[in-house]
Amino acid sequence: MSKKYVQYPLPLTSEEPLSIEKSEVIRSSNNSISHEDRAFHDWYRFVLSYPPHLVRDYIRDFGVNQESVLLDPFCGTGTTVLEAKLNHIRAVGFEANPFPHFASTVKTNWAITPHELEALAEQISDSTYTELLNQGIDDRTLHCEPDVELKKLDEQATRAIIKNSISPLPLHKSLVLFEQIKQFENTPSYKYLVLALGNALVTAIGNLRFGPEVGVGKIKPDVPVVALWLNEVKKMVDDLKWVSGLDYPETHIYLADAREPTGTVKENSIDAVITSPPYPNEKDYTRTTRLESVVLGFFEDMTQLRGFKKTLLRSNTRGVYKTDTDDKWVADIKEIQQIATAIEARRIELGKTSGFEKLYARVTKLYFGGMARHYAELSKILKPGAKLAYVVGDQASYLQVMIRTGQILAEIAERLGYQVERIDLFRTRFATATQTELREEVVVLTWPGLRN
Ligand SMILES: C[S@@+](CC[C@H](N)C(=O)[O-])C[C@H]1O[C@@H](n2cnc3c(N)ncnc32)[C@H](O)[C@@H]1O
Repeated sequence: MSKKYVQYPLPLTSEEPLSIEKSEVIRSSNNSISHEDRAFHDWYRFVLSYPPHLVRDYIRDFGVNQESVLLDPFCGTGTTVLEAKLNHIRAVGFEANPFPHFASTVKTNWAITPHELEALAEQISDSTYTELLNQGIDDRTLHCEPDVELKKLDEQATRAIIKNSISPLPLHKSLVLFEQIKQFENTPSYKYLVLALGNALVTAIGNLRFGPEVGVGKIKPDVPVVALWLNEVKKMVDDLKWVSGLDYPETHIYLADAREPTGTVKENSIDAVITSPPYPNEKDYTRTTRLESVVLGFFEDMTQLRGFKKTLLRSNTRGVYKTDTDDKWVADIKEIQQIATAIEARRIELGKTSGFEKLYARVTKLYFGGMARHYAELSKILKPGAKLAYVVGDQASYLQVMIRTGQILAEIAERLGYQVERIDLFRTRFATATQTELREEVVVLTWPGLRN
C-alpha cells in the first residue's frame, strides 16, 4: 500500500503537493471550536469530539454538494450530520447508544416554533419552583428545610450510575423537574426539554469531570437546577430562532449498529462518509453517558444496558462477551495478531491477572475485526467513487503496547477493496505513560465500486 501523510488542515486544492509525514504539535485552533460553531453543537457534545470545521474541510475536499448524501456511521452526538444540514447537505447517521442517538436526533430536528418552546419552558420552570417550595426547597436561594424526604433512583438504577456522580439534593430537584417536563410528553417541545436536562445534568448539575475519561470531580451539594436547565433551553431557543423560516434538508439518525448497515439504508445510496469510530482504548461510551441515560430513563438497569452494549463495536474490556466472533475477520492479519500477542506477553511479564487485563489482547482483535465487518458491510450501501474519512487515534492503552490505529484500519480497508488515498494528521497528543506523541489521524479512502 502506498501511503502519503499530510498535515491537517488540508491543502486547499488537490493540485498542491502533499507534504511528507509531520509530527509537530498541532496548533490549538485545530482542537477548539470557534464561537460560531457552538450553535446546535453545544446542545450536547462529547469532550474531544472532532470540531465542526473538520467536517466542513472534508465536505469541501470530497466535493460533497446538495445532490449528495453524507453518512456518519458512528455519529455520536451528531457533529457530522448537523454540520451537513447547516451546509444544506442531506445526511444520515447511525448511533448504537440510545442517549447520543436521542441527542443527535434532537440537535438535527428543527421543526418547532422557538417561542412555543420558550413559553412552555418558562411555564415548567414556574411550576417546578412552586412544587419545590411546597416541599420546603427554594431552588433560587439554595435553601432546603432539614426534614425534606428526597426522591431517589431505584436500587437498580442507582447501581447503574457512577457513584457520587450526582449529589442527593440536585438529584431530587432534577427528578421533580423531569416529572413536570413529562406532563408535556405529547408536545413537540418535549424532546428539547429532555435534552436540555440531559446536557445540564452532565455539564452543571452532576459532579462529573471529563479529563478526557469520565470521573467524579468536585462534589456539589446543591446547585440551582431549574435555572441551569432553563439556560440550556434558552440556548436552544436562540439557535432555533436563527434558522426559523429557512429551508434545510432533512436528516435521519438511526439507532443502528454500524456493522449491519444494510437493513437501515438502501444499497448504493451513500456518496461520502465522515466519521470517528471508537478507538481501541478502553473508553466505554455507555459509561460516559450513564448519568443522563439513567436519570432520564434511557436505561433502567444493568440488563438493559448490557443489551445496548452488545450492539457497540468492542473497544473496551467492559463490553466483551463470550459469544463475540468479530475477531475472525482479522484472523489472517499478521500485524493485529502480533499486537495481541505482544499485549498478552506484556501482561504475563508484568504479572497482571485481573479479568479485564486478561481480555486486553482479545478486545484488540475484536475491535479491528468489528471494523473489518463494518467496512465490508458498508461497501454495500456506498455508491462507486464514494469518499470516506475516518478520524482515529493511535493508542497505547493496553500495557503501553503501541497500536497504530489509522495505519491498521487503512490496511484492513485496502484488503476489503477500498483505495487508500492518504492519511492526514489531525492532531497529536502527548502520552505521559509512553512519553510519546500519539497521532490522531484521518484515514482517507475511496470506494471504487468493485467488491472483493
Ligand atoms: C468517537 S465517538 C463519535 C463522536 C462523534 N463524532 C460526535 O460528534 O459526537 C464514537 C461513537 O460510536 C458509537 N458506536 C460504537 N459502536 C457503534 C456501532 N457498532 N454502531 C454505531 N455506533 C457505534 C459510540 O456509541 C460513540 O458514540
